[in-house]
Amino acid sequence: MSKVLIAPSILAADFSRLGEEILKVQQAGADWIHCDIMDGHFVDNISFGPAIVGFVRKQTNLPLDVHLMIEHADHYVPRFVDAGANSITVHVESEAKHDVEKTLQQIRDAKCRTGLTLNPDTDFKLVEPFLDAIDMLLIMTVHPGFGGQSFRPEQMDKVKRAAKWNESRSRKIDIEVDGGINAETARVSIENGANVLVAGTSIFKTNDYAKAIRDLRGG
Ligand code: DX5
Ligand code: ZN
Repeated sequence: MSKVLIAPSILAADFSRLGEEILKVQQAGADWIHCDIMDGHFVDNISFGPAIVGFVRKQTNLPLDVHLMIEHADHYVPRFVDAGANSITVHVESEAKHDVEKTLQQIRDAKCRTGLTLNPDTDFKLVEPFLDAIDMLLIMTVHPGFGGQSFRPEQMDKVKRAAKWNESRSRKIDIEVDGGINAETARVSIENGANVLVAGTSIFKTNDYAKAIRDLRGG
């Protein structure tokens, strides 16, 4: 597929200097800014909400890639749209308690890019019926909830299946990976067909964001 896009996850940024961190990754060559929203119910952690996304919106013109790890995503979608999200990704799992088809339509109606994702333990079959209705499939390469975990290579099977699905269609969907992405696992993900890479730790926990982003693209 096309150029590999890098979406730094601000979950790993220094929140005491968030504005500066966003400018730094932008100057370092980031393509999108990934915002991880956690509610303490769908995942065992709480991150931040629409107000912070709105603040990020004021700092940058880069597309904001909002990943909702929350229950009742349909209830909160409008708030993230208003906050300035460019793409909104929701989980397919039943614990997320929303009508997936309706929520995807809601995101599309709001003129946002439509994303769907699945946990490492969730079968690819669950997302298959929706592939024609989305712009992006996010394959979680860790259990969602925390940054800094190790990449799960067995999830590459799903990336391959999504890439194969793309081969059969003229309208391609983006294939995004999220969790434990560093230079090495980025290479593996790209080889299997991913074209959007989310990375928190491997960018924000280094001293040279531009080098980290170059390394993710393959040097
Ligand atoms: C995991 C989040 C990820 C996470 C990635 O629940 O969805 O976006 O912040 O962080 P790293 O790159 O540190 O694995
Ligand atoms: Zn994420």
